[in-house]
Amino acid sequence: MRPGRWILPAKLIDGTAIGRVMRAELTAEIQALKARRVIPGLAVVLVGEHPASKVYVRMKGKACDEAGLYHETITLPKETTEAELLALIERLNVDHKIHGILVQLPLPQQIDTQRVLHRLDPAKDVDGFHPENVGKVSIGEPTGFRPATPYGVQQLLLRSGVETTGRHAVVVGRSNIVGRPMAALLLQDAPGGNATVTVCHSRTRDIGSMTRSADILIVAIGKPEFVTGDMIKPGAVVIDVGVNRVDDPSTKRGYRLVGDVKFAEAQAVASAITPVPGGVGPMTITMLLYNTVQAARQWAHP
Ligand code: GUN
Repeated sequence: MRPGRWILPAKLIDGTAIGRVMRAELTAEIQALKARRVIPGLAVVLVGEHPASKVYVRMKGKACDEAGLYHETITLPKETTEAELLALIERLNVDHKIHGILVQLPLPQQIDTQRVLHRLDPAKDVDGFHPENVGKVSIGEPTGFRPATPYGVQQLLLRSGVETTGRHAVVVGRSNIVGRPMAALLLQDAPGGNATVTVCHSRTRDIGSMTRSADILIVAIGKPEFVTGDMIKPGAVVIDVGVNRVDDPSTKRGYRLVGDVKFAEAQAVASAITPVPGGVGPMTITMLLYNTVQAARQWAHP
């Protein structure tokens, strides 16, 4: 089916620019905490050699340096046992320099991810993956940590002037990292929430009929260019969370990055869209910094 067209090509939602503004806004709060001798500190734990994880961890450390946060990156070999990782978490849980702990996922298969996430002190769980934080976010309790990727998507919508109240938001993907918390945030009775939310997943029948009814379409399934133009309602806002490497011998690296949405087709139909890269990605790291500052603030004013 030929995609319907929107009046103009979609406006780009620029996560790099919005992220930069938000990091500048955070500076004042970091300075205020430092004046009280609190330097927000983040520990990032990487187990193994996952290539994309290594890049993400390096970017997180660099962002902390630029924002003036203390950080430690702890790299463990891929043979690390669950007991060794749990012992490290226990140590970080009581380290006063560290306000936030992030265990980069995925973990090697000998380690039970949930057991590790459950061992984090919820007050330091800046990823928002501990059940206590999942519960708080689900009921709209503001001391809960919002997972960085959906939190970043919500900020993109808010700061691009996209109204969510009363709109139909369709989330494609039900992961614990993006889809589920995204639905929870859009459902909250708060700015950037109050949407009518549908979550689609691998067992959903006729996904196209769902996505075509979305005023706001958020795609996070990790399948390159899965959403085509004909799956989008003309004038919808499209947020592409996917980052997929596809082979491309014409590039120096031998691959290029594409999202979960077929960008050129979607841009002709949507009213606004995030690019990949440069959309959701930069916001994820920005919101991790926000969560680390929130952790330090909550520690300083319990
Ligand atoms: N792997 C992919 N996304 C994330 C994330 O948001 N946090 C962590 N810890 N690992 C990830």
